[in-house]
Amino acid sequence: MKVTLGRSAELASERVPLVGVLLARDELQPKWLPSPLSQAIRPPIDAKDFTGRELETALAYDRSGTGGRQGRRVLLVGLGERAKIDADTLRRAAGAVARRARAIKVDRFALALGRLPLPAVDAGRAIGEGVVLGGYSFHGQKTDARPKPARLAIVHHDGRGPDARTFRSALESGRVLAEATAFARDLGNEPANFKSPTTLASAAVRMARGTRVRVRVLRKPELERRKFGGLLGVSRGSAEPPAFVELEWRPPSYKKTVCLVGKGLTFDSGGISLKPAASMEEMKFDMCGGAAVFGAFMALAQLKPRVRVHGLVPCSENMPGGRAIKPGDVLKSYGGITIEVINTDAEGRLILADALGRAQELEPDYTIDLATLTGACVVALGHRASGLFCASDDLTSRLRKAGDSAGEALWPLPLWDSYLDDMKSSVADVKNSGPRFGGAATAAAFLKKFAGDLVWAHLDIAGTAWDTPKSEIYEGGASGVGVRTLVRFIEGLQA
Ligand code: BES
Ligand code: MN
Ligand code: ZN
Repeated sequence: MKVTLGRSAELASERVPLVGVLLARDELQPKWLPSPLSQAIRPPIDAKDFTGRELETALAYDRSGTGGRQGRRVLLVGLGERAKIDADTLRRAAGAVARRARAIKVDRFALALGRLPLPAVDAGRAIGEGVVLGGYSFHGQKTDARPKPARLAIVHHDGRGPDARTFRSALESGRVLAEATAFARDLGNEPANFKSPTTLASAAVRMARGTRVRVRVLRKPELERRKFGGLLGVSRGSAEPPAFVELEWRPPSYKKTVCLVGKGLTFDSGGISLKPAASMEEMKFDMCGGAAVFGAFMALAQLKPRVRVHGLVPCSENMPGGRAIKPGDVLKSYGGITIEVINTDAEGRLILADALGRAQELEPDYTIDLATLTGACVVALGHRASGLFCASDDLTSRLRKAGDSAGEALWPLPLWDSYLDDMKSSVADVKNSGPRFGGAATAAAFLKKFAGDLVWAHLDIAGTAWDTPKSEIYEGGASGVGVRTLVRFIEGLQA
């Protein structure tokens, strides 16, 4: 979608079938609209029932002459008390307008707002994100007509000077981030018979085409030569060969280097330690960590931050084929550490072990992995926060700040070596599964062993990658969690 900026005075003559007006409570009285807006909407709408409560909506029609015989639709969206408005309010309010545009099948709409309730940079980003995320839908393999999302959103706002410039570029960066989030959602929502490790890797290659992001795909023969034992082991039970995707964004000048790692399990049946049938279909989402990394690179290519970024996404299926790894088998990871496979369903940590070994060779300042790693993390935090495991206070606070600004909460959980006491093996350096309780923390402790001296954070997104609380900017399926948090974090590292 294209997002452009206009002024309130132009609103009256804007040729759009829908105008969304975002209103804080104080803008309802004494004259219920800020003056440029009230002139744009003729006759002034009698909105007695509209109180401006947060995310309250009311639909009216004006006589601006651009909306055909029935008039132009005007959707009032409440922002609530000005002092309580945050980025999430604006994102969702903008999303409500985009969603209405989709529902009434119009391909362009305008959005107007009076005095900015937040600093221009935060307001612009939130609105840019909201208009794109609100219009998102996944059509999948349905055979009925595909809904066409709106192609143009015109944001009318009367800022001047440096604030206006900031607002405009923030709007654009919000748009870019939301399009990248939509890309990650699309990859996640695709059924597993439409996305093998090979096609997931191809999607990354296609995404980077024509940009300055470099992508390299290591395929099975090269993985064998270089002894990626974790990834090769997990993929043995599947007819689909594995792929290890490496991405790089290298700007002309930079001070910091970041490595992003994402779990790219295109379907997790559990393998020989087969999962129960209930909800197994959700395991097509087990590549959402990898999708977040791909989405982040899609945004980096356009936002061009002065930070070098590597991406590592091991891609595999986990299936119980005749050549599958078996409980009791021992694998040697890329870094040389050996693992006894107690449970073939604890496969994410096996492929991440290789990726973390590879990350150490790249010598990044910060490494972050995202993985739909444990059901235990969903038990601990539900669907409202990702688990954050990190030994560095600096990285913890940077990530939490980025997550909060993206509306993607991260909650710290313990990263203690003592959890590894439960993961001792009598035949290998470590085993891949421990006792029943504390599964999110034992998984994190396992990964820590493979992260060596990296300044590293592990985000367990098992509860946030899909089926998160519905809102004006999310209606189900893959959430695209992580994309916006990662890019905001990276932007924050620019000198
Ligand atoms: N992909 C799953 C984790 C998962 C489960 C995410 C349910 C979201 C919802 C992961 O590979 C897995 O199976 N983990 C096991 C680990 C156990 C065998 C040690 C788990 O959480 O049960
Ligand atoms: Mn599993
Ligand atoms: Zn898994």
